Amino acid sequence: MFNLSLICLLLYATQICDGYKVLVMFAMPGKSFSFLGNGVVRHLLEAGHEVTYITPFPNSLKKNPLLREIDISSLQVDIPKDMINIEKIMKKEVDMQNIFSLVIDVQTLAITHDAVTQLLNDPKEQFDVVIMGWMFSELSSGLAAVFNCPYIWVSTVDPHWMVLQLIDEVTNPAYTADATSSTVVPFSFTQRVTQLMNLVMGLSFQKLYGAGIERDAYERLFVPFIQKRGHKVPDLEELRYNSSLMLGNSHVSMGHPIRLPQNYKAVGGYHIDAKVKPLPEDLKKLLDNAKNGLIYFSMGSNLRSKHLPMEVKTGLLKIFGKLKQTVLWKFEEDLPNRPNNVHILQWAPQQSILAHPNCVLFITHGGILSTTETIHFGKPIIGIPVFGDQFNNVDRAVNRGFAKRVDLSLSMADDLEKAINDILTDPSYTAKVKLLSLIYHDRPVSPGKELAHWVEHVVRTGGAPHLRSPALMVPWYQKWFLDLAALIIAVLFALKLIIKKLYRSFISKNPPKKKTL
Ligand SMILES: *[C@@H]1O[C@H](CO)[C@@H](O)[C@H](O)[C@H]1NC(C)=O
Repeated sequence: MFNLSLICLLLYATQICDGYKVLVMFAMPGKSFSFLGNGVVRHLLEAGHEVTYITPFPNSLKKNPLLREIDISSLQVDIPKDMINIEKIMKKEVDMQNIFSLVIDVQTLAITHDAVTQLLNDPKEQFDVVIMGWMFSELSSGLAAVFNCPYIWVSTVDPHWMVLQLIDEVTNPAYTADATSSTVVPFSFTQRVTQLMNLVMGLSFQKLYGAGIERDAYERLFVPFIQKRGHKVPDLEELRYNSSLMLGNSHVSMGHPIRLPQNYKAVGGYHIDAKVKPLPEDLKKLLDNAKNGLIYFSMGSNLRSKHLPMEVKTGLLKIFGKLKQTVLWKFEEDLPNRPNNVHILQWAPQQSILAHPNCVLFITHGGILSTTETIHFGKPIIGIPVFGDQFNNVDRAVNRGFAKRVDLSLSMADDLEKAINDILTDPSYTAKVKLLSLIYHDRPVSPGKELAHWVEHVVRTGGAPHLRSPALMVPWYQKWFLDLAALIIAVLFALKLIIKKLYRSFISKNPPKKKTL
């Protein structure tokens, strides 16, 4: 008796009694995508919630009794390896249109994975809320129907039409670029028309092609589980617009100040540890001793520098050798004939390196997480974008004055040398990024705390219906007042007819008099 009450008191003290049961799914087997999932899970655990986490990268979080991982690492997907091979991308051998089918394949593999099927099949498994990383499809919203609970999207980049249409409406292409576009406002006439075309093509793709595939997959993957639990089977077309909240890995310091619906919460930077982990001893020494500063070069966790063509590697080593700064290159294999100031690392604690005051420049592929970290730590960058949103991220950084862009090419070493000299001799780049860093940090609460708060808010308020945008209830022709336009045209037509009729009858009653001279 005494023991029981003591345990409950302890549980109460650690807030477990208050905790919610949360299901988090980040199924795409991309490292940076999973970092965002890990961040969500970490903050929910810290807030005392019980998290079930479907992930292809298990064991990357600290052990926690509140955490149960559903390991889907055995799911075999071949395409990403190709999709992220730099040499292939340079030769334009990768077809980006395959991404949608890839996403559907991954979702299908994830849901039909034994461990996940077990979870869906067991009626004892209940959740208060489901959180999913959004990636080009809303198929996974089926999870919310299975568990009959509210759900939340996590959007990985600055808000764009594809995610905003799910909680509000599509953005205006006259001043909002889509996620994979490099253009920045103000648009020229052609850019504006291109943005409109992108939007129309994207929407047509979704409505005419994607929706059918998703509906079939939904019927196959989720509906049996929903029926088995005895819940009403919602239409996927309703379900996909029914998320309670969107947590955005974005912030105005990193993107555009576009207007957002009430249930979009910009929590960009939440994946970064508030406390910087100390550097390993040898790395700390290297950075401490880099009296002329250190340049950190990393192409991210997906792209492998070793896929760079040989001539590019040799060229890069040559220009790095000429610098008085130390160069730290995250490279996955040994690189022979290295100049003395160039150091290679297989794995790099990126955040701790960027946090060091002697780190003066970051050469990056411009992924969203790296771009976020540069602003968090206030370091100028040279971006070498490879695919997807990276072009947009880098161009925005260039536009905001803290970055230079260098394109992948066989002669990129020369361009890189010029960019390095520009940034290191012109203090305006660093000044600019320090200002953005100040804006980034100047928030009433940390993004992690905010994230946990809004997830709790959704559960506490039964799916936060009060935050839903009214735009979701209005069909597109009403938004553009096409019904009014149709009415006006009809009235004008009717008027025209009436006037014609009247005129005719008037003329027939009073035939025109013969003119007299
Ligand atoms: C939409 O979400 C609300 C709140 O979570 C829920 O009550 C409702 O049943 C959902 N509707 C559909 C069609 O899934």
